[in-house]
Amino acid sequence: MTATVDLAAVRHNLAQVRRLAPRSRVMAAVKADAYGHGAVPVARTLDAAGVDMLAVACMEEAQVLLESHVQAPIALLEGVISTDEAALAAYEGLQVVVHDFWQIELLETMPAESNIALWFKLDSGMHRLGFPLDAVPRLRQVLKRHPAWRFQGWITHLARADETDCSATPEQIAAFDAALEGVPGARSIANSAGLIAWPDARRDWVRPGLALYGASPLPGQTGADLGFRPALRLESRLLAIRTYEAGSPIGYGAAYVCPERMSVGVVAVGYADGVHRSFPNGTPVLLRGRRAPLAGRVSMDMITVDLRGIPDARVGDPVTIWGDGLPAEEIAACAGTLSYELFCGLTNRVRFRYVGEV
Ligand SMILES: Cc1ncc(COP(=O)(O)O)c(C=O)c1O
Repeated sequence: MTATVDLAAVRHNLAQVRRLAPRSRVMAAVKADAYGHGAVPVARTLDAAGVDMLAVACMEEAQVLLESHVQAPIALLEGVISTDEAALAAYEGLQVVVHDFWQIELLETMPAESNIALWFKLDSGMHRLGFPLDAVPRLRQVLKRHPAWRFQGWITHLARADETDCSATPEQIAAFDAALEGVPGARSIANSAGLIAWPDARRDWVRPGLALYGASPLPGQTGADLGFRPALRLESRLLAIRTYEAGSPIGYGAAYVCPERMSVGVVAVGYADGVHRSFPNGTPVLLRGRRAPLAGRVSMDMITVDLRGIPDARVGDPVTIWGDGLPAEEIAACAGTLSYELFCGLTNRVRFRYVGEV
């Protein structure tokens, strides 16, 4: 089971983000091991391509990047959770996204001269993390009390940017703007869906994640439709070809029954690799450039596919689970999920190969 990550595609996708938001700086989300693509190679690639900042969720992820010696500043999207983390963030020069007053108290345990770089995250409607919008005057007072702190700007996160006909996003943007009217500091609103679908969300900084990996956050559109290139191809091999009579059940629970005498291929990939058990019959894989539908339940190490459309299939043939020609967005939808979850679900049994380095 091999995941081939094309770092040239990552560079292309960064350039496409810059084309869409030419006046914005780019904070690239490389959290969750760069959405399963490998934090260090992806971060190094983005860094070499001049990304303005890298963003991770937590300190553990930041430490991985620090050890990889990237030049770009590193933002901690969830901020710090202890005085130790606050001290480490200050020492390492991390950009701390602060979302609550208890985090300000953690930062205040640092010596007054600590020149912590920080952002304030405001809750404009996501209702997950962030200060209420009416906290802005209080937050400005906090900054006045700490002249050594290097305030970077104001962040908010969109809850429904992927729903292009919904008023929630313009409402969030308007609420954010109103709360910050006349207030100094950079602004950052847009994730991938925000920067693709909502030009008004392209402010001083954009924060793409998914789009950098070449997938689309918008339902019904693939990354390729939007000018992005899928960065990861998940591939295995055809392990066996069997012929079964009409009425033969295939695999666990007889979840597929052959409607006629037919060839069934066994592919060496399963939920132990990150291919969800919830993929139903009919979910396609790509073999010899053609689609073969899943026939039977996903098991730990294997899947079974209907080979009636591919009579020339041979044992050993490469089988694409998703990647170029078989969008992860489409495969995820078959299992009722998103490409985000497919990417993050790849397991350590998958071997990673990187191509397209400069
Ligand atoms: C605060 C924040 N900004 C940006 C992103 C990137 O989002 P996306 O991958 O949808 O572009 C995320 C991801 O969840 C996030 O939590």
